[in-house]
Amino acid sequence: MKFFIDTANLDQIREAQALGVLDGVTTNPSLMAKEGITGKQNILKHYVAICNIVDGDVSAEVIATDFDGMVKEGEALAKLHPQIVVKIPMIQDGIKAIKYFSDKGIRTNCTLVFSSGQALLAAKAGATYVSPFIGRLDDISTDGLNLIAEIRTIYDNYAFDTQILAASVRHTMHVLDCAKIGSDVMTGPLSSIVGLLKHPLTDSGLKQFLADYNKGN
Ligand code: G3P
Repeated sequence: MKFFIDTANLDQIREAQALGVLDGVTTNPSLMAKEGITGKQNILKHYVAICNIVDGDVSAEVIATDFDGMVKEGEALAKLHPQIVVKIPMIQDGIKAIKYFSDKGIRTNCTLVFSSGQALLAAKAGATYVSPFIGRLDDISTDGLNLIAEIRTIYDNYAFDTQILAASVRHTMHVLDCAKIGSDVMTGPLSSIVGLLKHPLTDSGLKQFLADYNKGN
């Protein structure tokens, strides 16, 4: 399972990269705004800064919502850095744009996916990644993990190459449940990755080992 971090915060990206288990970064316009990164040129520079920190895919989102606009923006984003994956919203022109990019060998991440039908369309169009937002489904009392399971079944039935990128992951249990279902990738906050290493028995066991070692020294 690939681990992506879902943030535009460079310190957190550096920390996740230093752990040695990071496979990529996802961002969106809201995450950029949260870090105070606004204006086209600043946002483009920030994508390059992220690419220079991580070894892996970095999703960069188009703002246009029409086919021509998405193609123009996506081609410019793809030229920024070889690690860039163009993030395209799940709308009608978005599907056309994903097909266009797929035919040109430009990698895409289809975002804002909330149903298995949407995920099927994204795969048919040739998306590299599909991003079902599980946390936002949970927020409205709909089972986000069930969506991951449905997409897994559909993609396996037809051997689609599109990778399931579980997005809007909020905590460690989301990560584990997605891993059990067979999600290819998860993207979440740093806490959802670092949280995996915590266990009180590890802490108490280590404390005891060190205390016992020190008895003889
Ligand atoms: O990866 C999608 C993500 O950025 C949305 O997360 O927590 O705002 O639902 P969230």
